Amino acid sequence: MASVTSLTASVEQQLKNALVAALPGAEGADPLLRRSDRADFQANGVLALAKKAKANPRELAAQVVEALPDGEVIKDIEVSGPGFLNITLSDRSILANLAARAEDGARLGVPFTGHPGTTVIDYAQPNVAKEMHVGHLRSAVIGDAVMRLMEFTGENVVRRHHIGDWGTQFGMLIQYLIEHPDELSGGHGDVSEEQAGEEAMSSLNRIYKTSKLAFDQDEEFKDRARRRVVDLQAGDEETLRYWHRFVDESKIYFNSVFGRLDMDIRDEDVVGESGYNAMLEETCRLLEESGVAVRSEGALCVFFEDVLGPDGNQVPLIVKKSNGGYGYAATDLSAIRDRVFHLKADTLLYVVDARQALHFRMVFETARRAGWLGEDVRAVQLAFGTVLGADGKPFKTRSGETVRLVDLLDEAVERATAVVREKDVKGQLGEAEIVERGAQVGIGAVKYADLSTSANRDYKFDLDQMVSLNGDTSVYIQYAYARIQSILRRAEGQFTPAAHPELELAPAERALGLHADAFGEVVREAATEYAPHKLAAYLYQLASLYTTFYDQCHVLSEDNPPAVVENRLFLCDVTARTLAKGLSLLGIRAPKSL
Ligand code: ARG
Repeated sequence: MASVTSLTASVEQQLKNALVAALPGAEGADPLLRRSDRADFQANGVLALAKKAKANPRELAAQVVEALPDGEVIKDIEVSGPGFLNITLSDRSILANLAARAEDGARLGVPFTGHPGTTVIDYAQPNVAKEMHVGHLRSAVIGDAVMRLMEFTGENVVRRHHIGDWGTQFGMLIQYLIEHPDELSGGHGDVSEEQAGEEAMSSLNRIYKTSKLAFDQDEEFKDRARRRVVDLQAGDEETLRYWHRFVDESKIYFNSVFGRLDMDIRDEDVVGESGYNAMLEETCRLLEESGVAVRSEGALCVFFEDVLGPDGNQVPLIVKKSNGGYGYAATDLSAIRDRVFHLKADTLLYVVDARQALHFRMVFETARRAGWLGEDVRAVQLAFGTVLGADGKPFKTRSGETVRLVDLLDEAVERATAVVREKDVKGQLGEAEIVERGAQVGIGAVKYADLSTSANRDYKFDLDQMVSLNGDTSVYIQYAYARIQSILRRAEGQFTPAAHPELELAPAERALGLHADAFGEVVREAATEYAPHKLAAYLYQLASLYTTFYDQCHVLSEDNPPAVVENRLFLCDVTARTLAKGLSLLGIRAPKSL
């Protein structure tokens, strides 16, 4: 494995050196190198430097040009306007750089980060005995992409699925199950994961509804249910046994949904709220002893100067309720202790709905005051916005209910399957392949729509747009990839992709090549900023540049000398591998044909 320095990075370094040579004291100055339409790059950094040094910018720019060493990379550099530098690279360097990437296999020359840390990422956290709805999509999809991006750059990543598997409603559910032991089947016979998941959810739903009814109407049942919560928290064996049945049954359901989302959720990473139960008491004791938390109206509370209610009074974070019960905050505070002191995290990342922002702000601040989050530990909520319906309001069904995640995935796959079927005009795909591709395209479309806007923004769930072959969609990118595969297949046996650095490149080839060369920088940025949308935008741009290349530069044309065919096949191949790697970092499949 060999990492490859991108052309942008090497030109930037050369410019930095030349800036210092031309103007001693310019150490650390940014040449402000950007891709440009006029040449390959434009650097505008001389202007600010000249201003600071009270020098003539055009003269300084000329001195920088003078100071640049003769080399293979920069073919042409000229001063333009008030002191910009227009830079054109040699065709040879573009091809040579890409050839080095192609040789590096699946990493495509992308370096690992110099100083990897340990990040605990908290994502994909549905709630036991509850149906997953559209709100659970984003945490799973964004979290999965960010996790993949970080792992690819070499970060040590610990995954935590903080599922809601604890709390008062379990008293009601468990009591009902004890009184109606056959309601939760548990056995799912010889059925698919998806069927088992659906069966599990439907029995959980039934139990939830009937036990809730009993809880609301039958005072005696209500009492028994309340006592059951106490048993649960006290660790009563029989109660725990029933609780486990709910958790196990729910996991069957979660796994079927995550399976449909093409996500690998490992059992050992599922550490739900219950996993911190044994720490809750100590967490509260430590907070109280240190004075971080105080008693207020019987509850154990943490106050914040700047967190006020509508009446102007401070609204506390409640770590222990007046009835002795622990809530969401106590669990999260305990989880922080576990993640920092036991898992040795230096970054805690929470992929959670923006509506929980205040909770996390208070939890992080409390943990700082308690000394659990030191200066060397970062805690970040990667807060995401809401999925909206066509009307711009939070996505609901026609009858006003929250949308079940599985229904939404079904519909996306159905639409995508129709697109795949329609595209297969020559009838080359068998039914099984159409179904498989339909799932890969449909799920990819849902994920891409979620990932291609920056996480903190809301977005409209618009299936027509998502599965469109035109525009900023995964289908467009997948289609570009499949088109390249078809060219590579046609060439098989006649030509092998090979870079020919002696050849002159057409404008569309240069643009494609330079963009492909920038993959590593985009991946690094997307990983360090937790911004998968930057990778999505990059891939869309790469697919668009490929489309232009495809229109302007025929690959398998009889008019082309063999070297040109091989060189273009090489560009096709590098592009395809970059697209596939990029999509896989977003958790999206790239079918070989569409
Ligand atoms: N289960 C919670 C929900 O559905 C999300 C959990 C987020 N993670 C956390 N550590 N609080 O809203």
